[in-house]
Amino acid sequence: MSPAPPPTVSRETPGGGPLRIAVINQKGGVGKTTTAVNLAHGLALLNRRVLLFDLDPQGNATTAVGVEKYTTNPSSYDFLMPGKEKPAPTPTQYDRLDLFPANISLVRAEMDLLQLKDHRDTVLKRNLEGQSFPHDVILFDAPPSLGLLTINILLASDLVIIPVQCEYLALEGLTMLLETIEQINPSLELLGCVLTMVDLRTNLSQEIIKDMRTHFGGKVLKTLIPRTVRLAECPSHGKTIFDYERWGAGARAYESLSKEVLSRIRNGQRKGARR
Ligand SMILES: Nc1ncnc2c1ncn2[C@@H]1O[C@H](COP(=O)(O)OP(=O)(O)OP(=O)(O)O)[C@@H](O)[C@H]1O
Ligand SMILES: [Mg+2]
Repeated sequence: MSPAPPPTVSRETPGGGPLRIAVINQKGGVGKTTTAVNLAHGLALLNRRVLLFDLDPQGNATTAVGVEKYTTNPSSYDFLMPGKEKPAPTPTQYDRLDLFPANISLVRAEMDLLQLKDHRDTVLKRNLEGQSFPHDVILFDAPPSLGLLTINILLASDLVIIPVQCEYLALEGLTMLLETIEQINPSLELLGCVLTMVDLRTNLSQEIIKDMRTHFGGKVLKTLIPRTVRLAECPSHGKTIFDYERWGAGARAYESLSKEVLSRIRNGQRKGARR
């Protein structure tokens, strides 16, 4: 298969409100939350106003930015479910970074969505459209499944980032995931796949990077996220990597990812890409 061209992605400051970016992979433990959280703070440090939307009942993104999960209000569940008064997001300890935290109710959100008669997969999209936000970007952290929460995220987003763990069988399932995403929302654009937990000292990592680039070409972002103990540690301290170890390899990688994401968005704008 010949390498795919880089995607044309959406412009950065659309007239219609914040750019919405989903961080998705139905596979568990591949670095979705680590990427959503640190990209969110990375973009905020680059002067963007960012809203991190924790729609994973595990609530790991909420904890990772230092907010107590399951006790806080207002939550992403309150925003999601119809009939509820739409709350404002919670400011975090970081400038320009706000959060809709996960709380205990999110555990039953899939069930509640199933019971809705109509539009159960576009509730999030419609609620977002009915609200104005001062943010430049909304980043969604998704659960490791393709259930109704994830489908709502995919239908509400302009762009998708797919973290792929740099391990044996990394490519397996990725083509199918891309096809599934395309079926669910054909107007969603792939911002890129990002390789996570890369260990450049191993032949395995080198081979996987090569295979990914051969098969998926420009769909793979240039930035590689290294496997580092610091990235694994920082959520338990309720800090992003920029707060925990500003000048380490993990922070440098997520800073580079944040710049690459903005550059892809700007390139999309130059080409006049649709939203
Ligand atoms: N680059 C990295 N280096 C070291 N550890 C990492 C790295 N990225 C993520 N981890 C660790 O790997 C585990 C899984 O990461 P993370 O929670 O981000 O994945 P996830 O895809 O969101 O998982 P889930 O599917 O359960 O939501 C976590 O313990 C996290 O701290
Ligand atoms: Mg997660």
